[in-house]
Amino acid sequence: MSTTPHDPAAGSEHGDQHLGTDDEVVTSDTMPEEFLPDGGVIANVAIDVADLHPELADAAQVAELVAPDRTIRAKVGEPLLQMQQVTMRFGGLVALDDVTFDIRRGEILGLIGPNGAGKTTCFNTMTGVYRPTTGQVVFDGRPLGRTKRNEITRLGIARTFQNIRLFSDMTALENVVVGTDARHHTSVPGAIFRSRRHRAEERDALDRGMALLEFVGIGRRATQQARNLPYGDQRRLEIARALATEPKLLCLDEPAAGFNPAEKEDLKALIRKIRDDGYTVLLIEHDMRLVMGVTDRVVVLEFGRKIAEGLPAEVSADPAVIAAYLGVPDDATA
Ligand SMILES: Nc1ncnc2c1ncn2[C@@H]1O[C@H](COP(=O)(O)OP(=O)(O)OP(=O)(O)O)[C@@H](O)[C@H]1O
Ligand SMILES: [Mg+2]
Repeated sequence: MSTTPHDPAAGSEHGDQHLGTDDEVVTSDTMPEEFLPDGGVIANVAIDVADLHPELADAAQVAELVAPDRTIRAKVGEPLLQMQQVTMRFGGLVALDDVTFDIRRGEILGLIGPNGAGKTTCFNTMTGVYRPTTGQVVFDGRPLGRTKRNEITRLGIARTFQNIRLFSDMTALENVVVGTDARHHTSVPGAIFRSRRHRAEERDALDRGMALLEFVGIGRRATQQARNLPYGDQRRLEIARALATEPKLLCLDEPAAGFNPAEKEDLKALIRKIRDDGYTVLLIEHDMRLVMGVTDRVVVLEFGRKIAEGLPAEVSADPAVIAAYLGVPDDATA
């Protein structure tokens, strides 16, 4: 089992190092050696999900259980998220320069561009990590303005990280249930006295957590510690945890980093399945073949500016896009 599988080509994520709410998160990059299993495998038991939850043997039921809350103002095909002339400066550096595009409800939108183009910064302005210097982000008709990160999660935007962030000592199921907690309504006293409502929420969260693990294809890993999962399953677990918040928009930041071609094909199928289940997906990805094979539309950034937008075939034939990708390492475009 691989625990430090990080792909250096994936680049770093500058944006998220000083974020208070992530202090407790141990990433696979920053995890101290002593936490890694000693060359050996900790005896985690794979469980048979269908045995425990017979209803989860039925893929259609699983899909229904994990389908998002559908109270969304935007109709299918209408803008769910709007980047409106967003500029993001860090001192003298312009990470996003007057960027405007829409993510339409029900689509898989690809966001591509060379290293440092501003893709992760886009995510960070959408999820409240950064407030745009100028311009605004509108989500389901509501300008995000000064909305806080946890409130944005509640409104329905979830993301995964370019560098995996999981609670490494928790089981896969616990990692997902942490995500469902973001949606819970029990007050602190309610939780202390373990009210009936709280217990019901706990049970719902576990059931939904199991369904989510099954949905992303790792149900049998439920009781294994996150750090002992193979790399690809850690990435799937991150997706399950993001889905646990019942997002209307799921943002994936280079989910295929470090994947082999077979894993990339599986990931494509999972992303389509997520969209078909009623989610809207924003996909940042370096691998052009993956992007072109799975997205409905593509937005291209270069040096913080949007240089192209359109159908995958249009964008990949665009001379400006081809030029932007010349000079970047082959493995980034292969
Ligand atoms: N918090 C920050 N402080 C200073 N500069 C930043 C910060 N976050 C991002 N940047 C800079 O903004 C630019 C865009 O970075 P960003 O991480 O958004 O690029 P990216 O397209 O995600 O790149 P990659 O493909 O390498 O992940 C880069 O020049 C980066 O160094
Ligand atoms: Mg990035």
